[in-house]
This record gives sequence, structure tokens and C-alpha cells, in this order.
Amino acid sequence: NNAPVITIDGPSGSGKGTIAKLVADRLGYVLLDSGALYRLTALAALNAEVDLADEGRVAEIAANLNIRFAIADGEVSAVLDGKDVSRDIRMERVSMAASKVAALPAVREALLQRQRDFRELPGLVADGRDMGTTVFPDAPVKVFLTASAEERARRRFAQLQGRGVSVSLRDLLEDIRARDDRDMNRAASPLAPADDAVVLDSTDIAIDDVLQKVLELVQNRI
Ligand code: C5P
Repeated sequence: NNAPVITIDGPSGSGKGTIAKLVADRLGYVLLDSGALYRLTALAALNAEVDLADEGRVAEIAANLNIRFAIADGEVSAVLDGKDVSRDIRMERVSMAASKVAALPAVREALLQRQRDFRELPGLVADGRDMGTTVFPDAPVKVFLTASAEERARRRFAQLQGRGVSVSLRDLLEDIRARDDRDMNRAASPLAPADDAVVLDSTDIAIDDVLQKVLELVQNRI
């Protein structure tokens, strides 16, 4: 399989999901939101009331996930066992659970091939934590997108407020730091830029400028 892959890794709230979607739309590529797979695994485990530390059982759930991604009105929705769970998997409770199950090596192993199966022509844009390091190490374009924890908490805060959800900025910042810590310090595929990744910091750059930079890389390398 030689379809080109563009990997966009980074911490939560860095804007990688937004950028990945824009790049995929622009190029007509397939989009893989790998975080959604960990979120779906977490939701399925919570629904089954499985202990999130039970590596064997959570990995079994990951291996047997009955999911599909549907596209309606340009939005991607996640369907688990026939039910649209796009909103459920974004809940704070599921975010936390996702970062816990993502630390289990057997769970990551169970999701590996499923992620690689998204690679198809004309190309794939994959966003996550280890797309450039573990899942698609031969990708011709690798981006690592970061932003300060404070800025990421502010973005999330504005997003939730816009949806009428009331949260405290301080709680969000704490959650983000806890997740960063878990993602960066786990033994299995920790969050880190690949050696050949281009690191972009979106703290003070508009999303449109980040998009232009990524498209430039694509032109030079694909
Ligand atoms: O990107 P998103 O925030 O949706 O990811 C949810 C969780 O899944 C993250 O906290 C991270 O721990 C995990 N994840 C991962 N590897 C990926 C994508 C996500 O470990 N490639």
C-alpha cells in the first residue's frame, strides 16, 4: 500500500483535529481521527462496566469494536453498535477514560491494524499522538502541532461555553495537564514528535496560517 499519508500528532486542544479535517477536505484525502478509536473503546468499556485497568478485557473490547464512521452534512459521526455516539465520546468522563485505556499496550496493539486499514488512495490524513512514530512511520509528511496548556484550556473553555456547557477554566487546565502527563509519560507509544516531524506551535498562530504551512509541506514532499 503506497497511498501517501500525512500525520498530524500533538496534545489535545492543539488544533490538530481541525487542521487534519481542513487538510483532508482540501486534498480530497481520507481522514482518520485515531483519538476517536480510543474514545470509542473507552465508551464501550464504560458501558460494559469493565474495570479500565483490566488490560485483557479492555483489549478484547478494542479488538471487537463494532463501529463505523458515517458522513452527514460534511460532519463525521461515530456509530457504536448502531448508535450515533459522536457526542457521548466527547464527554469529559470519556476523555479521561480514553487516556487511561490508551496507556494499555494490548489496547494499542488491538487498534494498530484497524488504523492502518484507513490508508487508501488518493491519500490519508491521520491525526493522533503516535501517527508519525508508530502507526505510519513511513509517512512522507509528519507534523507535530503543539500549543501551550493555558491556550488549549482557553480554546476548550470557549468551545464549551459556546455550547452552553458551564465549566471552570481552572478545572479544564488541570484535566489537560493530567492528560498531557499521561500521554507523554506512558511506556507504550508516548506522545512525542517523530524525528522527521515538523514541529508547529499554534499558540499564537491563526489556524489558517497553520493550514498554509501544512499545505506547503505537502507540495514539497508528495
Ligand atoms: O485526540 P483525542 O483527544 O480525541 O484522543 C483521546 C485520547 O486517546 C487521548 O487522551 C490519548 O490518550 C489517546 N490517543 C492515543 N493515541 C492516539 C490518539 C489518541 O493514545 N493516536
